[in-house]
Amino acid sequence: MLDLGTGSGAIAISIALARPDALVVASDYSGAALGVAQKNAHDLCGKVEFLAGSWYDVLNGHAPFHLIVSNPPYIAHDDQHLQQGDVRFEPSEALTDGATGLCDLQVIISGAAANLLPKGQLWVEHGWDQAAQVRQMLRQAGYSAVSSKQDLAGIERVSGGTH
Ligand SMILES: C[S@@+](CC[C@H](N)C(=O)[O-])C[C@H]1O[C@@H](n2cnc3c(N)ncnc32)[C@H](O)[C@@H]1O
Repeated sequence: MLDLGTGSGAIAISIALARPDALVVASDYSGAALGVAQKNAHDLCGKVEFLAGSWYDVLNGHAPFHLIVSNPPYIAHDDQHLQQGDVRFEPSEALTDGATGLCDLQVIISGAAANLLPKGQLWVEHGWDQAAQVRQMLRQAGYSAVSSKQDLAGIERVSGGTH
């Protein structure tokens, strides 16, 4: 499986620990983030192959995958939450695509099919008010069984489907 925009590696390492039989690949374009992810994987004994670069550009010979997941930057550039609370201390490029918040999600959804095995699945995290738009983007990209999953507050925060 592939984790795009792995950051500290939380998703990729968790999957690697839960499924030691899986081949887990994770990418990020931030060298600093990958340094943290590699240290976390080492400390937690999670077997993950890390790749540096932008989204699918890094995948020479690694695709196709059974599963692609991503928690990409999805906050709109003018969202007031960027100036509030703990997110003020996060790198802005980890939080916002610098536009509507849907641009990186669209790149990831559009590019996934070429990197998935038949019946492979794509799941993405998104903002509290983006679930309907993301489901629509997935359907337009040809995904079936499209659905969303709720977080602990009952808000749809992850959407995906089967290609
Ligand atoms: C919201 S953070 C998510 C981090 C981690 N996946 C998590 O769930 O905690 C988004 C990540 O996407 C990375 N990112 C942003 N643009 C990227 C790009 N074009 N290619 C690859 N990674 C990118 C950022 O460096 C950041 O680590």
